[in-house]
Amino acid sequence: MTCGESGAGKSNFLNMLILSLLHNSSYIEHLDFIDLKGVEISRYKLNNTSFTDNLEGVNDLLQELKNEMNSRFKQMKEKGDLIYKGKYRICLIDEIGTISTHHDKKLKEQIFNNLIELGQKGRASRVLIMVFSQKIDSTNINTNLLTNLQSSCLYRTSSQFNINNAIGLQEEIEEITRTRVQDFPKGRMIFKHGLTSEKILLQTPYLSQELQYDMIKYFRSWINK
Ligand SMILES: Nc1ncnc2c1ncn2[C@@H]1O[C@H](COP(=O)(O)OP(=O)(O)OP(=O)(O)O)[C@@H](O)[C@H]1O
Ligand SMILES: [Mg+2]
Repeated sequence: MTCGESGAGKSNFLNMLILSLLHNSSYIEHLDFIDLKGVEISRYKLNNTSFTDNLEGVNDLLQELKNEMNSRFKQMKEKGDLIYKGKYRICLIDEIGTISTHHDKKLKEQIFNNLIELGQKGRASRVLIMVFSQKIDSTNINTNLLTNLQSSCLYRTSSQFNINNAIGLQEEIEEITRTRVQDFPKGRMIFKHGLTSEKILLQTPYLSQELQYDMIKYFRSWINK
């Protein structure tokens, strides 16, 4: 889970993550991108990526991911494996708040229920979700989902709620950085490891639009062959 206010650098980080994952395509079965607000992550158009920008599409995709997770668990049970040995399916959602504000209650509920299940059990089956949001209060992201997203990245924010729920209390933050989170420069974040709870201060490299485009072209030249 990644949170931070507008302009803090979340989408730049999201694109960096995607490019890094593409570089490791041999471990990836498929990457799914969801963005109901913008078109930035629709640019990839690779054989191992898909883009969804509407609520019905999101619901269908998450249903499919849940089925994939369950079928992987079945295979693991048959083989006696604790971890799925095949490739990763990773779903990246930019600005998850746009799902929460949608008027279709039933569809929203179905979507969040599937997300919660994927958050709870996805790791062992290598079906992962990564969520990006300006705010992580209950109007933007279901609380049950939030507690099931283990690792977190906190970018610049003046919301105490964001800070407390992503990393922890003021004293813990002060052990990591002397700068207030609301004064973080672009790209600065605190990362909390979901399993060890280790917290570290990081600076995300800036990737210009031109560089991103060149890298997408490069990936097209070998992934789409
Ligand atoms: N790591 C970085 N270093 C320097 N500048 C950055 C970095 N990341 C982003 N920027 C600059 O800040 C601008 C906003 O970044 P970005 O779109 O990633 O913010 P965001 O957190 O996704 O905002 P929003 O919530 O509005 O989508 C970018 O256009 C870029 O110019
Ligand atoms: Mg953004």
